[in-house]
Amino acid sequence: MNIVLGITGGIAAYKAPDLVRRLRERGGDVQIVMTASAEEFVTSTALQAVSGRPIRSNLWDKEAEAAMSHIELARWADIVLIAPATAEIMARIVSGGAPDLLTTICLATEAPIALAPAMNRVMWSNPATQANRRVLESRGTHILGPAVGSQACGETGAGRMLDPDTIAAAVFDIGTIQGEGLLDNRKVVITAGPTREAIDPVRYITNRSSGKMGYAIARAAAAQGADVVLISGPVDLPDPPGVEVRNVTTAQEMHDATHDCVKEADIFVAAAAVADYRPKDLKEQKIKKNDESMTLDLVRCPDILASVAALDAGPFTVGFAAETEKVDEYARSKLENKALDMIIANRVGNDCGFDRDDNAVNVLWSEGEKRYPQAQKSKLARDLVELIAERYYAARGTDTQPRLSVISTTD
Ligand code: PMT
Repeated sequence: MNIVLGITGGIAAYKAPDLVRRLRERGGDVQIVMTASAEEFVTSTALQAVSGRPIRSNLWDKEAEAAMSHIELARWADIVLIAPATAEIMARIVSGGAPDLLTTICLATEAPIALAPAMNRVMWSNPATQANRRVLESRGTHILGPAVGSQACGETGAGRMLDPDTIAAAVFDIGTIQGEGLLDNRKVVITAGPTREAIDPVRYITNRSSGKMGYAIARAAAAQGADVVLISGPVDLPDPPGVEVRNVTTAQEMHDATHDCVKEADIFVAAAAVADYRPKDLKEQKIKKNDESMTLDLVRCPDILASVAALDAGPFTVGFAAETEKVDEYARSKLENKALDMIIANRVGNDCGFDRDDNAVNVLWSEGEKRYPQAQKSKLARDLVELIAERYYAARGTDTQPRLSVISTTD
């Protein structure tokens, strides 16, 4: 993998030689591009020694440009990684400015860009930096970290650069993200996140779910060429690039949004943590705490997954099972009772399943099963989408050829 490693001026730049080593150990060819302020923290001599390539830093270096111009570098990169990434470089990339070599490459490349932010915790949480982070994420830039912990400035909080090994692993994850078009011309509908069922204007019933698992599946399906609709409960995640996102709040809204588009879908994946019950009556005013105890009258919410599985000529239907005990047993009974094509079982609890970046699952279908050990949800999602595609084509008795004919037009 050809990696342009941008190093900017933060104290974490001292970790850059180690990062280069980790990237090269995994088979990366690393071309370093330093900003002027990075040179205050780490020497180009050390970096040249570990990377085995001359360091680039100057947009106007005629000799270096003659060897590989900034445009050639931008094309050469399979990924552009900036680590450490300061608040300044984030702002520069957001604004589209190109005053130096690194920002010019960012503007000129079609390769994925990943940033490993490193800065003082207050700078990281500053609304300007957070707004820049959101813009970058919405444009598909991968933000790796930062980690939480003690900082060089003596403070403690979010802003430490992730450790070099974690960054290197994430870079290779991202670099291999583009799929082989397994789901070209297929429509995939996915639910993700929790639902909220209002009790009164200030309180609601919900389930624990960050949406990370469902969003990762949406990204992985889109990377395999699928036309993806993601029906999302309230989460704090950016929309995955290239995915149509429909935001909903309640189980009934999620049900209606799903049925609005699922009939034309080839595959449906229910990753959402949908409330099973909602309060029978929504109180118009805030309930006062006058009594020592209170009882809520609840009624069932629609079962979205079961209703999709029951459709005539419906999509290939994949459910999730979130269990705290007897995971496989309960998952298999959901597979059978809801007449699903496949179910993805995960153990959930305080330290597994939801609200975290990794997960471990067991996938069950009528004639088989496959276990996936603990892995980042992004990696797991890619593996799951490959398996879903394989089982979908097997169930439909077709090969992986696109179902729709492609109409080409010429001017
Ligand atoms: O969002 P994260 O923080 O990344 O966490 C991921 C996750 C743990 C939420 C996810 O991996 C997961 O397990 N999602 C399903 C959660 C759930 O509600 O499971 P369940 O066993 O209660 O429901 C079984 C299936 O029926 C699920 O596919 C669910 O989406 C679906 N369902 C449930 C109730 C309902 N009213 N309608 C449904 O469609």
